[in-house]
Amino acid sequence: MKREQRKLDHIRYALELGDGNRSTGLEDVRFLHNCLTPVDPDRVDVSTRIGHLVLPAPVFMDAITGGAAEVKEINRKLAAVAKRTGVAMAVGSQYGAVKTGQQGDTFAVIREENPDGLFFANVSALAKPEEAKAAVDMIGADALEIHLNAAQELIMPEGDKTFSLIKENLARLQDCTEVPVIIKETGCGMAAEQIRELQAMGFTCFNVAGWGGTSFAAIEASRSNVARYEKFADWGIPTAWSLIDAAHAAKPWDTLIASGGIRSGWQAAQTIALGADAVAMSGNILTVLLQHGEEEAVTYLQDVIADLKDIMVLTGSRTIRELQQAPLVFTGDTLAFIQSRGYEAAFKRKR
Ligand SMILES: Cc1cc2nc3c(=O)[nH]c(=O)nc-3n(C[C@H](O)[C@H](O)[C@H](O)COP(=O)(O)O)c2cc1C
Repeated sequence: MKREQRKLDHIRYALELGDGNRSTGLEDVRFLHNCLTPVDPDRVDVSTRIGHLVLPAPVFMDAITGGAAEVKEINRKLAAVAKRTGVAMAVGSQYGAVKTGQQGDTFAVIREENPDGLFFANVSALAKPEEAKAAVDMIGADALEIHLNAAQELIMPEGDKTFSLIKENLARLQDCTEVPVIIKETGCGMAAEQIRELQAMGFTCFNVAGWGGTSFAAIEASRSNVARYEKFADWGIPTAWSLIDAAHAAKPWDTLIASGGIRSGWQAAQTIALGADAVAMSGNILTVLLQHGEEEAVTYLQDVIADLKDIMVLTGSRTIRELQQAPLVFTGDTLAFIQSRGYEAAFKRKR
C-alpha cells in the first residue's frame, strides 16, 4: 500500500477506534490537597524546558500527520490552534518526505500558518543523520523527535522489521542536529532498562508515549484484518507506569515528556507530579479538531492549561519543578507495579 494512503488510514482508524477501553494507570494516582497553599493563581508559572528549549506552557500537540496532499489542511489547522494557544506542535513522520523529496509542502504549511511557532520535526529511528537534519530544516524545527514503533511495524503488513539495526542507527543520530533530540515511543511506553541504554548513547530527552490512549497495534490490527493481531491492542506499558520507570532512570538534567492517553489538565498535572517536564497529546486533539472544529480545539487546550494551573494552586506548587515534588498516593494496579519493580511509593524525581 502506498505511504499516502496509509497516512489517511491512520487518521480514519484513530478516529474510529479512539482510546478503546485502555487506561493510563493514572486512575490509581491521587494528589494530596494542600489546605495551606501559599500560591496565588496569578503567580503560577507553567513554563518549562525540553533540553535547552523554553516552552511557555508544558502541554504540546504531539506527532499526528503530514506526507499526503489530503492531510495538508489538517496540519494547517493544527498550526493555527498552536498559534492561538501558544503551545508547541510536532508534525507526523517526515521520513517518507525526506527519502522521496515529495510532500514537503504538507509539513512546511505549519510555518506559513504560524511563522513564530514552536515546532518539532519527526523521523524514524532508521533515518540517516542527513535525513534527520533535512526534516529539521524542512520546517525550521525547534526540536527533533525520533520515534520508536516496533509494535506497529511488526503488525503492519508493509512494516520495516529490521529491528536489529535500530540501536546502531540511533547512536548515529545522537548529534545530528543542534536542536534538542527527543526519543519517543508511539503508544507502547518505555521501560527504565531501555531509557538507560538510550542515556548511554548520549540521549537526554525521552517521551514515554505509553499505553492508555491511541494504540497503533489496534490501528494496524484493524487495517490488516488479521484476527490474532487484535490481542496486541493490549500490548504496552501504561503511561503512569512508564513514567514511574522513567523517573527512576532519569538523570537530573534529562527531560521527561508524558504522553499516551493524556486527556485532561488533571491527568497532565498527575504526570508532572510523577516526574514529567512536559505533556503531549495526539488522538484527542485530532478528534476534537476534526469532529468539532478549530474553535473547540482551542478551548480544549486552554481548559487543559487552566485546570493544570488550578491544580498547581491546590497542591501549593508555583512552578513545574515544584509540582514534580508534590506528594502522591497510589492505589490498585499502579501500586502493585511500584512494588513489583522494587520502587518506593514516596519516591520523587531527583533534580
Ligand atoms: C493519526 C495518528 C498518526 C500518528 N503518526 C505519528 C507519526 O508519524 N510519528 C510519531 O512519532 N507518532 C505518531 N503518532 C503517535 C502520537 O504522536 C502519540 O505518540 C500516540 O498517539 C500516543 O498519544 P495519544 O494517546 O495522546 O494519541 C500518531 C498518532 C495518531 C493519532
